[in-house]
This record gives sequence, C-alpha cells and structure tokens, in this order.
Amino acid sequence: MAVVILAAGQGTRMNSTVPKVLHPLAGIPLIGHVVATAEALDADSVSVVVRHAADDVAAAVSAQTDGVVIVHQDDVPGTGRAVEVALEGVDDSVADVVVLSADVPLLDSDTVRAMVGLHRDAGAAVTLLSAVVEDPTGYGRVVRRSDGSVERIVEEGDASAEERELQEVNAGIYVFSHEVLRQHLPTLGQDNSQSEKYLTDVVSRVVVTDGLVHAVQVEDAWLVDGVNDRVQLSEVQRRLNRMIVRGWQRDGVSIPDPDSVWIDLSVTLSPDVTVLPGVQLEGQTHIGEGAVIGPDSTLRDTEVGAGAKVERSVLHDAEIHADASVGPFAYLRPGAVVEDGGKVGTFVEVKNSRIGVGAKVPHLSYIGDADIGEGANIGAGTITANYDGVNKHRTVVGPHAKTGSDNVFVAPVEIGAGAYTAAGTTIRRNVPAGSLAVAPASVRSIEGWVAKNRPDSDADRASRPGSGSAKK
Ligand code: UD1
Ligand code: CA
Repeated sequence: MAVVILAAGQGTRMNSTVPKVLHPLAGIPLIGHVVATAEALDADSVSVVVRHAADDVAAAVSAQTDGVVIVHQDDVPGTGRAVEVALEGVDDSVADVVVLSADVPLLDSDTVRAMVGLHRDAGAAVTLLSAVVEDPTGYGRVVRRSDGSVERIVEEGDASAEERELQEVNAGIYVFSHEVLRQHLPTLGQDNSQSEKYLTDVVSRVVVTDGLVHAVQVEDAWLVDGVNDRVQLSEVQRRLNRMIVRGWQRDGVSIPDPDSVWIDLSVTLSPDVTVLPGVQLEGQTHIGEGAVIGPDSTLRDTEVGAGAKVERSVLHDAEIHADASVGPFAYLRPGAVVEDGGKVGTFVEVKNSRIGVGAKVPHLSYIGDADIGEGANIGAGTITANYDGVNKHRTVVGPHAKTGSDNVFVAPVEIGAGAYTAAGTTIRRNVPAGSLAVAPASVRSIEGWVAKNRPDSDADRASRPGSGSAKK
C-alpha cells in the first residue's frame, strides 16, 4: 500500500499569503495532522504532492518527519494530475493507493484502515469516503444510480441544479487499486468548469469499465470536514480543541469553561490541574499536578511545576517551579525561571533571569539578565538596566538581600548576600554582603519656596498653617 497526500493546490479561498495547508490547527500545520495519519497506516511509502509554495510546504513536512517523499506537481492542474505525478515514484508491486487530502485534517487513521479493509474484502477498484451533510456547498456530490450503486462524482461547478441538491458529498479520501489508477489517470481530460484533471473522474471511468466502486459513508461527517476558507478553518479548530479539552477533563483536569480554553496537541497536563477561562496553552507546555492556570493567560513552551499559580499573565519559554506564583499581569519571556515558592507579581516583566527559591519580585519591575538569590526580596518599581546600547550585562542579587523600592541596578553589578539597598537608589557599583547601600545625595527642602514663587496658588493657601483645604 502507498499513501499519497495532496497538498499542491493554491488554497485560493483562504485569501492568504500563507499556504492553506500551513495554517495552524492545535499547534501544528493542517498538513501535519494528515502526515501523522498517513504515518500511522504503516504503508510502504507516503508521498506528499506539492506545487504552490512548494518549498515552504516541503520544509514543514520535513521538519515533522523524514519518512515522507516530496513530489512536485507540474503545470497541469487538478487532483488527478497530482496523483498521476506521485505514482511515478510508486513501486509496481504496490497493490493499493490511499489518497488523502492535506486540507481534511480531522480524519483519523482508524477510519482509513477500516476503509482499506472494506476495499480489499469487496475486491473494489475504488473505495471512497462520503458523508451526508446538511450543507453540501463546495463539495463534489456522489451521484448514485437507481440501484444505489455509485455512478460518478460531480464537482459543484459542473453539477446540474438537480445534482446540487444531493447531500451526499465526496470526502476526497480514497483507496484505489494501483492498476486502475495507472490505467485511467493518463487518459483524463480537463474539459470541466475548472479546466483541471479531476481525480474524481476516475470513478466514472471505473463504472463504465465494470469495475466496482464502493462509497463508504462516515457517520461522523465532521471527520471529513475540509478546510477551504477561514470559516471552515475556525470550525475545524474549535472541533479539535473541544476534543482535546474533553480528553484532559477525563484525565482529571478541571476546565470549567471548555469553550474559552485552547490547548495545543503537544501540551501535557497532570491530574488536578485547574485551567480557568480564557487560557491558551501552546507548544511544549507542561503543567504539573495541582497547578492553577488563569484566568486569561497565555503559556507557550512553558514548564509549570506542581502547585504553582499563574494568573492573568503571558509566559513564553519560561519555567515555573513548584508552588511558585506568577501574576496577576506578569510577562515572563524566554529564559525566565522562577524557582520553588518564588513569586513574580503584578506588572513585572522577567527575561533570561533566575528568581531563586522563595525569592520575590512582587510589583512593577523589569528583571532582565539577572540572578536573584534564594529568599531575596526586590522592592517595588525596580529596574535592571541590563543594556548599555551594545551589550547585555548581568545583575546578581545575593540570597536574602532586601532591595528598596524604585532601585535601578546598572549591570554588570552584584548585590551581596543579605545586603540592603535604600529606596530610590541607583546601584552602579557592587554592594558588599551585609551592607546597606544608600545614594549619597540627600533631599534638600527649600522652605517658603511655594509662597515666594507661587503666591496665592492653591498650593500656597494649602501650605499655610490652619488652612483646612486648598479650596476657597
Ligand atoms: C475535492 C474533490 C471534491 C471533494 C473535496 C473534498 C476533486 C476534483 N474534487 O474538491 O469532489 O468533495 O475535495 O474535500 O478532486 N490539490 C493538488 N493539486 C492540484 C489541486 C489540488 O495537490 O492541482 C490538492 C489540494 O492542495 C487539496 C486537495 O488536493 O489538499 C483538494 O483540492 P481542492 O482544490 O481543495 O479540491 P476541492 O475543490 O475541495
Ligand atoms: Ca478542499
């Protein structure tokens, strides 16, 4: 058995500069789902036919697996030509050819395997998957004869008004006898509304030559939902997401509002995790037991330890260890690590920094390229000045240091273990362990300045002894 995946079409109806089959679905491109289904079939070969944006599509496929042959379709358009070109690389000994469409991503390998079984048992020349749908617009229709047998497939653009009423559609998924394809594909014309070589025309050829065409109806029509425009893309995205969310719920994850939570296929969750409304979990994200994520948070390629909490925050490529807490309103960028019990609080941005065990950065800070020691506390409004306009430098804060509010740490700089810094200090030189760093300039108050320079202003009146209010 050989598998051919059709992915050479332009995807015009997407109105996109991104090739249709590379639009994302649960974190991988559409075609990635079909390639995974194909590989699960244990076929002798899997080929993907490309033409439009061929290099991009081929690169996406190769990034996923090296077990697939890329075939380039020539200038002759149509699904029939695509298969014909793919067959040039298929060994004569192959008995059956399974054809999958890169834009039908939800179809599972069990359904295809069952189809192959039926095809072989029936000794069919063609077995195709069909579905009865409410709205057949855009699909090829299955035309049957009065005895119920399949006569042909007619594309929407070529169908009569009567044929358009038919609700049984061709899913674009087939098992063909290899020999039958070799016989008929070279003879197909392009005399149709799209001037294409239609793979579907093989069906009527087989019928005319007394071969057996078998149409297997899928019960769950959504399995064969095709993605041709962005409306259909969003429907498929929602459907798959619902299945993913439901799977995690059954595995012990609390997700009270499943429709507002989006989880990529690649994400893993432990039992007793809670995912609150408005959360997106993307890429290689793993959430440990009992952690609470959300509401309203986005985590990409992020590791969250057991019992940790992330509230209304954005985390990319970060690591949150056990019982740590992040947010509300924090932004953790690549290389941010919050160790056990650490805290990154409200309006705090962290990049390429380690927040040590139990250390806290509670409010309004930017921590970049820093190492914050165990148990240290960073005052509100602290900025690591890590960038001198050319290079980035590191800030090191020792264990159990307590830095004051509104500090600037001008890197490279080190604050020793247990040291304190005063509020409003700009730290330009290393602070030895156990010392208090204070900026030398103290505030001088010029008494009577307001009365002299802003006479009879609200400020002036308010400053006089006994005035209850600035107002007259
Ligand atoms: C096709 C079927 C239609 C079926 C529908 C199901 C034909 C003629 N029509 O229509 O009966 O109901 O799928 O989803 O087959 N492709 C190529 N090379 C090409 C043209 C297309 O590889 O020259 C690929 C596309 O990338 C796509 C697949 O074939 O993955 C289907 O092509 P598309 O243009 O979407 O066909 P439909 O109009 O959906
Ligand atoms: Ca299609």
